[in-house]
Amino acid sequence: MPPKLFQSEILAIEPELGDASRVTISVPAGMANEVRPGQFVHILPRGEGTLDPLLRRPFSVMRPRPENQSVDILVRPFGRGSGWIARQKIGASLDVLGLLGNGFSINPSARNLLMVAGGVGAAPLVMLSEEAVEKGLNVTFLMGGATAAALLSPSQLPESVEYVVATDDGSQGHHGFVTDLAPNYVPWADQVFTCGPEMMFRSLRRALEPHRLHRKPPIQVSMERSMACGIGACLGCVVETKKGMSASCVDGPVYDLDLIDW
Ligand SMILES: Cc1cc2nc3c(=O)[nH]c(=O)nc-3n(C[C@H](O)[C@H](O)[C@H](O)COP(=O)(O)OP(=O)(O)OC[C@H]3O[C@@H](n4cnc5c(N)ncnc54)[C@H](O)[C@@H]3O)c2cc1C
Ligand code: FES
Repeated sequence: MPPKLFQSEILAIEPELGDASRVTISVPAGMANEVRPGQFVHILPRGEGTLDPLLRRPFSVMRPRPENQSVDILVRPFGRGSGWIARQKIGASLDVLGLLGNGFSINPSARNLLMVAGGVGAAPLVMLSEEAVEKGLNVTFLMGGATAAALLSPSQLPESVEYVVATDDGSQGHHGFVTDLAPNYVPWADQVFTCGPEMMFRSLRRALEPHRLHRKPPIQVSMERSMACGIGACLGCVVETKKGMSASCVDGPVYDLDLIDW
């Protein structure tokens, strides 16, 4: 389905990850059936009568809800744009462009999938985990946050997913970075998927490098670059790859970690 510009309604808002919210927004007919894990919607974070903020903000789809033509997104009030979206109430109207981006892909031969999530980076990995479990695959979901309150609620994941957490302050699970946990799973994992802050990707890369052989298991990463147009026109979101510059809104946001020029 090509990207569409549409008016969406906020259907539900639930607290999640401490200061973030799980927001259910309506989407055009058929879109919730088409969305792939890792794709995102680009939301204009302002009301009528103002041009500020000027640019849309990207949000990964956390969960499609085809039964009522809607999707869930996870919104952390980080700055002006996400803060405006987080302040909206049920029934509010949003100007949305979507679906955008390429999404994650599960190799047909993979059986064991390792997710490594930091903060709101959990959103696309929840959807990927649900899809994987439906296919009968094994999923371990590593989640990192500053405190216990900032972690994803386990009820957001299918029961069969092994959920392991790390907190910066040691209030739950491993006391330290989520990337400290990942090397233990390298012999088991056929594929690794990660989403979160860029610093986390760098530390994941460093942590896994000594344990990987011939770049196995492969690692897919969803890059979080600031975006403007969302359709490949402004080059505001470029990622430097070993094959040259890449517009992450259309060629990404998901890349092979080994392809990124760190
Ligand atoms: C593909 C993609 C998926 C995303 N999914 C989610 C999601 O599911 N949930 C969620 O809460 N957020 C998500 N984000 C991030 C969300 O879009 C940011 O909160 C938003 O871009 C920041 O906008 P703001 O208006 O809140 O902050 P601003 O007020 O615009 O910025 C505050 C500060 O942060 C910097 N900044 C702005 N954008 C980014 C960025 N993307 N990365 C690093 N620094 C930045 C600015 O330069 C500024 O210094 C995603 C981003 C991308 C690219
Ligand atoms: S945001 Fe304009 S090219 Fe990607």
